[in-house]
Amino acid sequence: KKTVKDVDVKGKRVFCRVDFNVPMKDGQVTDETRIRAALPTIQYLVDQGAKVLLASHLGRPKGQAVEELRLTPVAKRLSELLGKDVKKTDEAYGESVKSEIDSMNEGDVLLLENVRFYPGEEKNDPELAKAFAELADVYVNDAFGAAHRAHASTEGIAKHLPAVSGFLMEKELDVLGKALSNPERPFTAIIGGAKVKDKIGVIDNLLEQVDNLIIGGGLAYTFVKAQGHEVGKSLLEEDKIELAKGFMEKAKAKGVNFYMPVDAIVADDFSADANTKVVAIEEIPADWEALDIGPKTAETYRDVIQKSKLVIWNGPMGVFEIDKFAQGTKAVAQALADANDTYSVIGGGDSAAAVEKFNLAEKMSHISTGGGASLEFMEGKQLPGVVALNDK
Ligand code: 3PG
Repeated sequence: KKTVKDVDVKGKRVFCRVDFNVPMKDGQVTDETRIRAALPTIQYLVDQGAKVLLASHLGRPKGQAVEELRLTPVAKRLSELLGKDVKKTDEAYGESVKSEIDSMNEGDVLLLENVRFYPGEEKNDPELAKAFAELADVYVNDAFGAAHRAHASTEGIAKHLPAVSGFLMEKELDVLGKALSNPERPFTAIIGGAKVKDKIGVIDNLLEQVDNLIIGGGLAYTFVKAQGHEVGKSLLEEDKIELAKGFMEKAKAKGVNFYMPVDAIVADDFSADANTKVVAIEEIPADWEALDIGPKTAETYRDVIQKSKLVIWNGPMGVFEIDKFAQGTKAVAQALADANDTYSVIGGGDSAAAVEKFNLAEKMSHISTGGGASLEFMEGKQLPGVVALNDK
């Protein structure tokens, strides 16, 4: 795939799709990771003398303008980070935007309004894709986080312009691609999170590649049940028990070491002031629910992590948002941080948030900016936003 380095952008209008879908509170950006991650590409375009049009979605406004989902606070933060004025338009295409672009100088940066204010964006309406394309000479996709969406600004537009990837996109594909195609071994995947339902594809695909598969989080209890133990009031997907059994059999057949919790922290209530205790996994009381992995489990997981050369982590081990149930997730994050010879890849979303919360982000080898996108990549799926990039 071509990257932004393979095209001449000097004096050109470049439509650069970024993922500025960042958390906000009271009109302020509360986590600017994704903005910072896009800076290398933006700075490069500026330095090359391009006229940089940035486009992003924010939230899920469902095809209409929603005041709180305007990108104005993002433009402000980006401007501070770039040390350069960033103008923002109130629309994402059309005559008003065109005349704004006409007055741009080389090296100027313009942020277009939230592309999801238009119903055509998520429908990948060819008319909207064309309207976006009319604004520019070159298309750069640096929005790895949105690459699993076939939308007008991530997929449709690429049909009309020379379309290349940005540096963030390139790096994400490189790291995740290498991990899956030519992994250093032992290769371990840690899969957590609430639901088996959301992780079926990724577990299935990773069982083809890994040496060790570690299971944690709410989804683990469907596996515990599949082993024949009672799980009390823990999360349980009755209709996925057979599937869980199938995964354990597949692991055996493939020679993958399958690690499950051997103990758990159980609570009598899903709350910060619940009573809690540590129990062996086959002894979860009927009226209690498991909300974190136990200390013995955490120790075993730490060992496996430390002996691995490559670890991919997606999904927390427990309800880490509540301190009482954060120990397991913290132990995994700490083990990754301490393992100097281990290349650690953190899938976006909750695992990235957990690593941030424990102040261990800078100790990880790679933290993906994509939640859904990194998951779909690890499922072995093609990402439409990547497939659409061409060599025109
Ligand atoms: C994300 O936050 O994972 C991406 O920005 C995609 O957002 P979406 O799930 O609303 O498409």
